[in-house]
Amino acid sequence: MKKILSIAAAITFLTAGVSLADEHAQMHEMMMKKGGPKTDDRTELKIPPPMKVMQKGMMRQHLDTISEITAALAINDLNKAGDIAKSKLGWNPEEEKRCSLVGQMAGESDFVPLGKAVHLKADELADTAKAGNRDKALVLLSELITNCNACHQRFRH
Ligand code: HEC
Repeated sequence: MKKILSIAAAITFLTAGVSLADEHAQMHEMMMKKGGPKTDDRTELKIPPPMKVMQKGMMRQHLDTISEITAALAINDLNKAGDIAKSKLGWNPEEEKRCSLVGQMAGESDFVPLGKAVHLKADELADTAKAGNRDKALVLLSELITNCNACHQRFRH
């Protein structure tokens, strides 16, 4: 019985090994199709590691906010969409301070304009939703997400 069990264990182990090797080969093939391994040539934001942790936490909150705005627009609760966009993503003196601090610490003059573009778009989205124009609010939401990614394309941790 013991022997059967250990043979079964060995077979499981071997097939797992084979499927891992398979996945590795598939990944390799996929990367070669895309022209081989690439380096990440975005600019590293030179801020201390604990600030990076904090910044990524804020980023995940931003993504949650995008989800909340989308959900409110989906049920046609335009006031709620507007309130969330304004209060959680709008441009205000606090946000300006936070953005400027990171930009200064990293010594990157592009950081604040890229951040500000996102927050101003959120304000525009808020006004548009509150004015009752859902179609335009959705277009602005798409532009807002594009603005988020403009910074991700430029900077990395
Ligand atoms: C001004 C720059 C900037 C803007 C604007 C920006 N981000 Fe980011 N974001 C970053 C940087 C830098 C990172 C870290 C990337 C890395 O890990 O290399 C990041 C990472 C993230 C991550 C990954 C977090 C994790 O846990 O790893 C998410 C999600 C994210 N951002 C969402 C958003 C959303 C949503 C918006 C727009 C509402 C946004 N970001 C706008 C700079 C920005």
